Amino acid sequence: MNRTRTKKQFVVFFIATGVAVLALYFLFNFDHVLRQLLTSQLGLASKANTIVGVLRMVFFALLAYLVVRALNSLVFGLVRFRRGFEAPTLVRNVFSIIAFTALFFLLFSLVFPDADLGALFTTSAIFGVILGLALQDTLGNFFAGISLQADRPFQVGDVITVGVLRQTGVVEEITWRAIKIRTFSNHVVLISNSTAAKEPIEVCPRDNLNARLVFFNTLYSDSPAKTIHVVREAVREADNVSPKISPIVRIRNLGDNGVDYEVKYWLTDYAKYNDTDALVRQRIWYAFRRAKLNFAYPTRTLLIERRPGAGMREGEDSAIVERLSAVDIFAPLSSEETTMLAQAASSHVFAPGETVIRGGDPGSSMFVVHNGRVSVQVNENGHARTVATLSDGAFFGEMALFTGEPRVASVVAIEETEVLEIGHSAMKRVFDNNPDLVESLSHIIAERRQALAATEATSADHDERAGLLSSIKRFFGMK
Ligand code: CMP
Repeated sequence: MNRTRTKKQFVVFFIATGVAVLALYFLFNFDHVLRQLLTSQLGLASKANTIVGVLRMVFFALLAYLVVRALNSLVFGLVRFRRGFEAPTLVRNVFSIIAFTALFFLLFSLVFPDADLGALFTTSAIFGVILGLALQDTLGNFFAGISLQADRPFQVGDVITVGVLRQTGVVEEITWRAIKIRTFSNHVVLISNSTAAKEPIEVCPRDNLNARLVFFNTLYSDSPAKTIHVVREAVREADNVSPKISPIVRIRNLGDNGVDYEVKYWLTDYAKYNDTDALVRQRIWYAFRRAKLNFAYPTRTLLIERRPGAGMREGEDSAIVERLSAVDIFAPLSSEETTMLAQAASSHVFAPGETVIRGGDPGSSMFVVHNGRVSVQVNENGHARTVATLSDGAFFGEMALFTGEPRVASVVAIEETEVLEIGHSAMKRVFDNNPDLVESLSHIIAERRQALAATEATSADHDERAGLLSSIKRFFGMK
């Protein structure tokens, strides 16, 4: 389709050029024949010179027009080839006008060497004022278009949003009169240059990494750390989401119906943001389904409060019993004792980076890591030094609980971590039934103390262990 049009244009161009050149050839070589014809046949002897001049001027103008068109196609075709985008129509038109005007004046002074162009302009001043007033708006648009071009705030192919009406679309053309944008409903909107010059314009350049925000929410029972991880991974893989910057998922608000989130992602091709937003939402839906996360829709939740210890939390409790029986120091306990400990334990969830216990604080409970990872940190010249990393089934906080001394270290969650907290009275009951437990605990405490002191020794000193043993027994009122 385009090819046949270009072919046709070429044919017309060559025919027109041929006609103009031929006509000029005859006008210059056979002008005496024409003059004779005008004098003898039409009796226009006095005007023969002017008529021949005007005819020459007409064909020169035609030739000039064709040359300017050819130059225009050549220059801007080269720009398109080198830069990869079409030059704005306005620039092409300004180029044509300047080239054509210059050629016209040149040829005019050649054909009519006696004519005074300056005088011609002076006499047409009044005409100019009238024309100026009539073309006020058109000229306003024209000059606004020129200033837009000089400023180059956007180019063909950029996505722009104009004015208070927030008309959004891809810039298709910048002409004398207007900016032509194609909206995402495939409509063409023309915004006059003078309006665009006055209105605020939001530009999303084609070669820029532009970002979008997509909103979603979850129930309050869904963990933020898990949600953020799941959504980030799901969105990262979606088509047209730029791999250069990792998407950001963050909490916007704690809403009436759930936790409100936003995901910020960067697009490779911003003009396709509607499709990409939709794809991102779709990916979130599937990711939620796999990860068993829930969207929050307007709900009325009936909360039935269960007093602590007033009964087992079914599946949750059996998982806690299982976890505690896998902790090495509790291995000697009977299943009834482990169940009793599980009932007394309370579960707490910590976000990555949150402090579970702080060094120097008093402590009257110990913790078992149910899910996740924590780091044990001591303060060294104002900096936190990690002495150990504990994961599922490990315990901490026993030193302060068993000796009554302040916490020797801080324990910080590395990832989202659920810990089971066991208090002093539950442990006392366990000790009363299993006095041997105190001994194995004193070993562990002594070893951890040595690690903290960072001594050369690899095993705990016997005297220290004996001292610990008796102080634990004393603290728990045991014999
Ligand atoms: P507590 O002193 O109550 O609080 C800080 C806890 O960090 C401490 O009890 C131990 O449980 C734990 N802790 C200290 N040092 C170590 C270590 N070297 N390895 C593992 N845990 C430790």
